[in-house]
Amino acid sequence: MRILLHILAGLTLLFTFTTVRAEVDPATGLVIDQHWQLVVSQCTVCHSARLVSQNRMNRRGWQATIKWMQKKHNLWALGENETLILDYLEKHYNITEKAGIRRKNLVNNL
Ligand code: HEC
Repeated sequence: MRILLHILAGLTLLFTFTTVRAEVDPATGLVIDQHWQLVVSQCTVCHSARLVSQNRMNRRGWQATIKWMQKKHNLWALGENETLILDYLEKHYNITEKAGIRRKNLVNNL
């Protein structure tokens, strides 16, 4: 019986730790995860990181935004980093139901 309680306690602890919310970088407001530093270095040069973190798009939308900035705002070619940046953005700043009510993306108005 005692051992069962131990197992239960262990599982509860594991559950608590694995469901902890994603950590956010206080300086930029961006979620700390794989490639976030790459995003900080490439995406906060011309504007605030908030412009990134306040947006929600699917992968295609993020890619279109990048293309639009490259075309209109001198964003440099991101090379191999583009895939990694898109992986990060798709994972953490994707469209959610709540964000679905946002205004239309500027990119669509070209
Ligand atoms: C070379 C400069 C530059 C860099 C670097 C840059 N952007 Fe931008 N970005 C802009 C400009 C200029 C705007 C328009 C700002 C405005 O409307 O106030 C913009 C706007 C945006 C918007 C808002 C688009 C919209 O529809 O309202 C998002 C999201 C965004 N950038 C994401 C990114 C991401 C992600 C990266 C990194 C891959 C990045 N930016 C890097 C120049 C840049």
